[in-house]
Amino acid sequence: MGNIILIGFMGCGKTSVGKKVAEKLNYCFCDVDRMIERDNKMSISEIFQEYGEEHFRAIETKAIMNLRETVRNCIISVGGGLPLRDENRIFLKELGKVVFINVSKEVIIKRLEHDVTRPILNKGNKEDIISRLMAEREPIYTEVSDIVVHVGNKEFIQVVDEICDYVKS
Ligand code: S3P
Repeated sequence: MGNIILIGFMGCGKTSVGKKVAEKLNYCFCDVDRMIERDNKMSISEIFQEYGEEHFRAIETKAIMNLRETVRNCIISVGGGLPLRDENRIFLKELGKVVFINVSKEVIIKRLEHDVTRPILNKGNKEDIISRLMAEREPIYTEVSDIVVHVGNKEFIQVVDEICDYVKS
């Protein structure tokens, strides 16, 4: 289907990197969380608050399932929790090539220090939650991905170019 799906932990840069890759390659860009917010006329936080996480996860699954029918040649950014459901990983694979943007825990903690838009980080000590979730999720992200981009100390544009090179290869 010619799509590239960006996965990775909250704050890893899926959206900003994805937009730039799309611009450089002349692909369309789609952010699944923003699409969910638009369709439901509610923010992710409001959906969690009003209906709970399970409901959000069901909406997420439906969204990724539907995308298979509608998008071609698109850079798609998905929420950090989406690859956790078995069925979603199947849908991701059907949708296109999966790129895992791997950023260190230290950087993620710093980036999300003052964030209030991710409801699952607001239930206790943020650093502890990030550490636990990253340890749980990293093997899943790695398993489902076709390529892992290790961000390390790379500049933003280097990460973008690495993904562009992969798409063109
Ligand atoms: C979540 C990540 C968020 C959003 C929701 C849950 C998660 O997306 O889908 O808050 O479980 O990791 P981002 O990864 O784009 O922040």
